[in-house]
Amino acid sequence: MKYAGIVDRLAGLGGAKWDVHFRARELAAHGRDIIELTIGEPDVATPQALTDVAVDALRRGRTGYSDGRGEDNLRAALAQRYAQSTATRIEPDRVLCFPGTQTALFAVLMGVAETGDEVLVGDPMYATYEGVIRATGATMVPVPLLPAQGFRIRAEDIAARITPRSRVLLLNTPHNPTGAILSRADLLAIGKLAQEHDLWIIADEVYEELVFDGETFHSPLSIPELADRVVVVSSISKSHAAPGFRSGWAIGPPEFTARLLSLSETMLFGNQPFIADMTAAAVSAQSEVAAGMRARFAARAARLHARLSAEWTLEVHAPKAGMFAMVNVEKTGMNGHAYALDLLENASVAVMPGSAFGARLNHWIRVALTVDDARFEVACDRIVAHARQHARATT
Ligand SMILES: Cc1ncc(COP(=O)(O)O)c(C=O)c1O
Repeated sequence: MKYAGIVDRLAGLGGAKWDVHFRARELAAHGRDIIELTIGEPDVATPQALTDVAVDALRRGRTGYSDGRGEDNLRAALAQRYAQSTATRIEPDRVLCFPGTQTALFAVLMGVAETGDEVLVGDPMYATYEGVIRATGATMVPVPLLPAQGFRIRAEDIAARITPRSRVLLLNTPHNPTGAILSRADLLAIGKLAQEHDLWIIADEVYEELVFDGETFHSPLSIPELADRVVVVSSISKSHAAPGFRSGWAIGPPEFTARLLSLSETMLFGNQPFIADMTAAAVSAQSEVAAGMRARFAARAARLHARLSAEWTLEVHAPKAGMFAMVNVEKTGMNGHAYALDLLENASVAVMPGSAFGARLNHWIRVALTVDDARFEVACDRIVAHARQHARATT
C-alpha cells in the first residue's frame, strides 16, 4: 500500500533514541536492580486537590463537547496568568488549548511552516523537535548551542543561518536537555532579528516553573514589540506534575489563534471540559509541587556535580533549570551511546545518550534528576565506581 510522505519523513526518528531506555526496562523486567535516570517524569504525584477538581467535574457531567478554542473558564484563567507573568495585556482570544505542549507544538508548526520553509532551532534540542519540524515538510536548520556559552542560543549564530526561506525560530527556554535559560538581553537580540527577517518565534516554555533559585526566567511574550510574532506553548505536565492529563496551550496573536482554530478543530474537535476545569484551577493558583521539584532537582544536580568532580573522565554541566543534568564523557574514550550502554550493563544505571538530542551531544549523556535522594545517591556511587573501574581497565 502507498503511504503519505509524512510517514516517510518521520520514519526512524523514534526508535534508536530510546534503545538504552528500552534495554533498561528489559533488564529490570528480568529482575535487575536498575536505577532509571532516562525520562523526565515529575518525582511527585499530581496534587490531590487538582485530581479532586477533575473528578468532581466528571461527576458534575463536564463530559460534553467543548469549544474548539478551549473552555471559556480555562482561556480566561490562562489569559490572566500570562497577563500577570508577562506584565502585558493578554485577552482570552489569544489562547488555544491543546492536549499537552507536544500537540500544541505540532499544530502551531503546521500552521506556520511548510515545504520550502526553513525552521531554525537550537542544536541540541528536545527529542521530538526534529519530528514536528519534518512533519510540516519544512527543513530544519540547526543552530549550534555551545557549552562555552552555557548552551544559550545566540542571535549572531542564528543570523549566520538566516536565508530568504527562514520562516520560524523555535526556542526552548528553559532548555531540555541542557537546562539553559535565555536572558532578557538574549531575547531582545533574537527578537530584533525576528523583526528584521519577519520570523515567527515559537517558544516552548514547559519548564518555566522549574527554574532554580538565583536564576530568572524571561519570556519573549513579555516583549510588547514582538506581540505579533510570538507564540508560547506550555502545559501543566511539569509545573503541576500532571503529564498524564495531557493539558497544554498556545498563546499567540489574536489573528494567529483565529486562523489556527480550523486546524485545531480539524485535529481535535475540542478538549475535555473536566480537564479544562482542573487546568483552570491549576493555573489560577501557585503550584503546590513546583517549588519542591525546583529545590530537589537543583540539589540533586549539585550533588551529581560534587560526587563526580573527582572523576577526571566525567564533567558535569550545571543546569539552571529543569529535570536533567548533562555529563560530558568524552575522556572515557567512549561516545555517549557506548558509555550509556556500558553503564547500564556494568553498573545498572540507565541514562540517555546525548545523541538522542542531536549529534552535537555525541560525547555527552543526560541524567534525569527525578529519583528520590537515597536512590540518586546510590546512582552516584555506581557511576563513580564504574568510572574508576573503567579508568583502571584502560590505563
Ligand atoms: C522541551 C519539552 N517540550 C515539550 C515536552 C512535552 O510536554 P507535554 O507533556 O506538555 O506534551 C517535553 C516533555 O518532556 C519537553 O521536555
